[in-house]
Amino acid sequence: MMGKLVQTALMGVIEANRAICRIPITKNIMEGAMKGGEVVIPFDPQIPVNSDGAMVYINIPFCKGRCAYCPFYSFPYAEERVKPYVEAVKKEISLYKAKLGDTKIGDVYFGGGTPSLLYEGVIEIIDHLRSNFKIAGEIGVEVHPRDVNEEICDALSNAGISKVSMGVESFDDEELKIMNRRGYDGDSAIKAIELLMDKGFYTGIDLMVGCPGQTVSSVLSDLETAVKTEVHQIYPSPLALSPDTLWASQLKKGKVEFPPAREVIKMWRAILDFLPSNGYEMSMACFKHKRAAVEKKKDYFTMGHAFIIGMGVRAFGYTPPTLTGYCNTLSFEEYVKAVNEGRFPVAMGASILNQRQLDKIYHSIGLLLGIGERDVERRLNVLMDTGLYGDLRIDKEEFKKRSGVGVDRVLGNLSFLIPFFLFPLKALGIIEEDSREIKINEDLINGITTEILS
Ligand SMILES: C[S@@+](CC[C@H](N)C(=O)[O-])C[C@H]1O[C@@H](n2cnc3c(N)ncnc32)[C@H](O)[C@@H]1O
Ligand code: SF4
Repeated sequence: MMGKLVQTALMGVIEANRAICRIPITKNIMEGAMKGGEVVIPFDPQIPVNSDGAMVYINIPFCKGRCAYCPFYSFPYAEERVKPYVEAVKKEISLYKAKLGDTKIGDVYFGGGTPSLLYEGVIEIIDHLRSNFKIAGEIGVEVHPRDVNEEICDALSNAGISKVSMGVESFDDEELKIMNRRGYDGDSAIKAIELLMDKGFYTGIDLMVGCPGQTVSSVLSDLETAVKTEVHQIYPSPLALSPDTLWASQLKKGKVEFPPAREVIKMWRAILDFLPSNGYEMSMACFKHKRAAVEKKKDYFTMGHAFIIGMGVRAFGYTPPTLTGYCNTLSFEEYVKAVNEGRFPVAMGASILNQRQLDKIYHSIGLLLGIGERDVERRLNVLMDTGLYGDLRIDKEEFKKRSGVGVDRVLGNLSFLIPFFLFPLKALGIIEEDSREIKINEDLINGITTEILS
């Protein structure tokens, strides 16, 4: 019953999305809304001083062409824009260095746009980042299948990049054409995956689901191809139809047809049946090869990080403990101008708490737990940094290293209550604990998702 209700709701969401995209929009609503935000709110990112392992996300907003479904902000690649942009990002890094001092950087991720288009610029940015900060985590980058060759693989690998996420989207040449994906076909996408894996990259691929021309059997055929490569991660990306895309304008003119919502639900059912029975485990938003689950703990690249420094035009950031979200300016020119003038290019931001409120909270919790305010701050920072949890699990040793105290002592004087919280969750099979870790029972979560879609 519950499953049917959720299914109907999902179909409603898919249909509503398409209906919204059919509405004639004379003025570009999204651009309009974003420009509104450009009225700069004076704002200075609140980075907690004693936190470690901040994630850095760097936006590279250049593409060779515009794919039919893609609403991401990007410019056509042009030499004269690339160089000033790379220089501007380097300046933004220096601004953060002046603010953060020796704060440790955890993972670094280059998204876009298409970072692989200007991989030399990306490497320059990494070198600059390294000369300012110690990078404790891994470096990941988004690549387009067209750009993958020996030369770029070697250059990225030598620069210390260990993870790549590649937008394959489909292995079917006809579907790729409809998507306006240029410069590769199904066969060359397979070769690109093989090369990336041969070169030792931890490799994830995106495959779109719900696009024109797709059927349950074409989705399954894509999955079969992907599974044969034994790629580390497969991310089936549900098509979100956005107003500012080629498909949205074709939809309004009746020039493109999408598979019915009912069919899309069947595609998801097929995905949920096929991948787990072919060596892939569901893990947060993607599917991970069982071998990959052993090799690497961290999941999809920007996911699971609660402290993100966003750099580059239109990049988003999020900083605990003031629960502050912020977004860089949406204008390329304003971005370059701001950093050249030594200003953070942040355009919008909001904090849920201010420092005075935070101090009060630390003080009260400290009294309750019988520990100092700075210890409360440190423990809360660690607890809020979900990057630590990786795949819905807490590594006990890592937790102790970061917070200075074991999970079983985290509540100070009130630690005797911890077993009372954990016991019912363990008894219900929701969490599992051993000497190394505490983790959410993934079978339970997978079971619930499968139940909903079946
Ligand atoms: C920045 S792109 C990937 C890197 C590179 N630019 C490329 O296209 O190969 C990130 C991913 O977002 C996903 N994506 C983009 N637009 C989407 C949409 N409208 N609905 C669902 N997924 C989308 C695609 O799967 C794409 O691979
Ligand atoms: S899918 Fe990738 S290549 Fe295509 S427009 Fe979006 S960011 Fe650019």
